[in-house]
Amino acid sequence: MSEKSLICEINGVWTQYGSTVIHRDLNLGIRTGEVTAMVGGSGSGKTTLLRHIIGLTSPSRGEINLFGANLALLDRDAARQARNRFGMLFQQGALFSALSVYENIAFPLRELRQFDEEAIHLLVMHKLTLVELEPKHAWLLPSQLSGGMIKRVALARALALEPELLVLDEPTAGLDPDRSEMFVRLIKSIRKQLGLTVIFVTHDLDTLVGMTDRVAVLADQHIIASCSLPELANVDHPFAQNFFKGVSERLERTE
Ligand SMILES: Nc1ncnc2c1ncn2[C@@H]1O[C@H](COP(=O)(O)OP(=O)(O)OP(=O)(O)O)[C@@H](O)[C@H]1O
Ligand SMILES: [Mg+2]
Repeated sequence: MSEKSLICEINGVWTQYGSTVIHRDLNLGIRTGEVTAMVGGSGSGKTTLLRHIIGLTSPSRGEINLFGANLALLDRDAARQARNRFGMLFQQGALFSALSVYENIAFPLRELRQFDEEAIHLLVMHKLTLVELEPKHAWLLPSQLSGGMIKRVALARALALEPELLVLDEPTAGLDPDRSEMFVRLIKSIRKQLGLTVIFVTHDLDTLVGMTDRVAVLADQHIIASCSLPELANVDHPFAQNFFKGVSERLERTE
């Protein structure tokens, strides 16, 4: 596999808060066009790693290349351009509570200062349709939405700028199994329509089995394996073994 096909490369990353080491010499390559799931225990540093990947925070040491450039070395314009090439769905949803669904999705479009109101309207309505919401939902406030709708609006906002890379932190957490399955189906269909690369974190095995090409396992402060789900069986680590047990039961069920 050539380096060109990696959308993100993480080399020798250390993250330290005070005397606590979260990541210790962590390495990972995320392949273009694939859906990569990141798994690991609670507090193992998954969200922190996603935040590093999109340049919200910087590791204490090491290098992260996204779209072929080291984020830490980009000037402001180049960093803004890189930001427009990915969409992020945060673990807590993170919609602006005072803004309507419409304004939440329009927000990244307005920030670009490239579109007039008519274009923004078209783009917002298109994204609403893409995430299977109705035009009438555009005028609701986040407090008037169900948990599943909040996730879909957050997804529509993440897709507003037609990103190449979608980063999802626990996209189905808090959803019931039916809603969760619907959300996985939605992401899979959007991914197919838009040809996206996806990185996501999940604790939910059904979500994982439903939409994953590759799984990256974060344990002992680094990535202990990055492989296909069946290959997890060969990873000699208690977390991976335990995890694989749950995964293989589901794989058998879906066969
Ligand atoms: N800015 C910060 N300052 C101090 N500690 C932090 C900071 N950000 C994260 N941490 C710590 O880093 C550790 C990893 O946090 P992180 O949110 O990345 O875990 P996670 O793997 O996403 O967990 P979960 O599965 O529960 O979401 C936690 O112990 C957290 O308290
Ligand atoms: Mg997290």
